[in-house]
Amino acid sequence: MVAQLIDGKVFSGRVKARVGEVVRRLKADHGLTPGLAVVLVGEDPASEVYVRNKGIATRDAGMVSLEFKLPASAREAEVLDQVRELNADKDVHGLLVQFPVPDQVSQQTVIETIDPAKDVDGLHPLNAGKLASGIPGFVPATPSGCLIMAKEVAGGDLSGRHAVVIGRSNLVGKPVAQLLLGENCTVTMAHSRTRDLPGLCRQADILVAAVGQPEMVRGDWIKPGAIVIDVGMNRLPAPERGPGKTRLTGDVAFDEVKEVASAITPVPGGVGLMTVACLLRNTVMAACRQAGVAIPADL
Ligand SMILES: NC(=O)c1ccc[n+]([C@@H]2O[C@H](COP(=O)([O-])OP(=O)(O)OC[C@H]3O[C@@H](n4cnc5c(N)ncnc54)[C@H](OP(=O)(O)O)[C@@H]3O)[C@@H](O)[C@H]2O)c1
Repeated sequence: MVAQLIDGKVFSGRVKARVGEVVRRLKADHGLTPGLAVVLVGEDPASEVYVRNKGIATRDAGMVSLEFKLPASAREAEVLDQVRELNADKDVHGLLVQFPVPDQVSQQTVIETIDPAKDVDGLHPLNAGKLASGIPGFVPATPSGCLIMAKEVAGGDLSGRHAVVIGRSNLVGKPVAQLLLGENCTVTMAHSRTRDLPGLCRQADILVAAVGQPEMVRGDWIKPGAIVIDVGMNRLPAPERGPGKTRLTGDVAFDEVKEVASAITPVPGGVGLMTVACLLRNTVMAACRQAGVAIPADL
């Protein structure tokens, strides 16, 4: 069997189109233009690319994009002051700090300083707790993207399926597991101490890999017909492309796994593209909530 390719461009294009349409209506009907502020501390080149791409996508959707850059030497207090200033800014509906931050700044303190009502990355403990409790809040963008993809290729209903999530980070693994549980999957979470990971994965109807280990998941770990969502983004040297060049690869050995799975996300071109789209969606939700406007059902 050769798996169906879950094309991130198609899926994210649909989410972005809905976001763009809702933004247009919010402007016309309520004079509301959602605004997203991104704070970047330091000059990490990968982070600069992510921030630039978020800015482009935000503007393309008709929203306001604000970027704030602080030097790598910035003290934690300066970063927190910037966050508090944006918390208080009525034109900023969504606010995120691009991670990682330099060592002198506590990531957790930054997360806890962001107003939960503007926390479009969904990392504040209040939003994580709401997700775990089944209460509407903000769900991290990458897990949201994973769920949209898995649910659609499964025909809209994941009930009773066994989902195995490899990785237990607050950013990906835990929220993905919560979302799958909310869809009535039987969820198993795996991590670096899990015994017989290949055997466990072979029981999965849905396998989500969020590990950070290039091509760790092999073809013989996959139950025939499983849906495989590869969150991994690993940069490997690619000298064949020229000196200093790199290539992006996932946590799944794509060429092997596509022979066994029923559907699979590629890397690049899969989950990564959904992340920005779902972030935009969260920003629109934040703007609606802050303005007291009902979140449109078609968002
Ligand atoms: N596509 C996107 O937009 C997007 C967004 C976010 C992240 N990512 C990518 O997704 C991957 C995971 O990100 P993350 O932030 O969740 O990473 P993370 O915080 O480093 O967490 C990695 C998880 O994988 C587990 N793990 C590590 N080695 C393992 C092994 N050999 N066997 C089983 N489990 C293992 C760890 O277990 P322990 O807890 O036991 O240490 C941990 O729970 C990375 O490649 C990252 O770049 C992609």
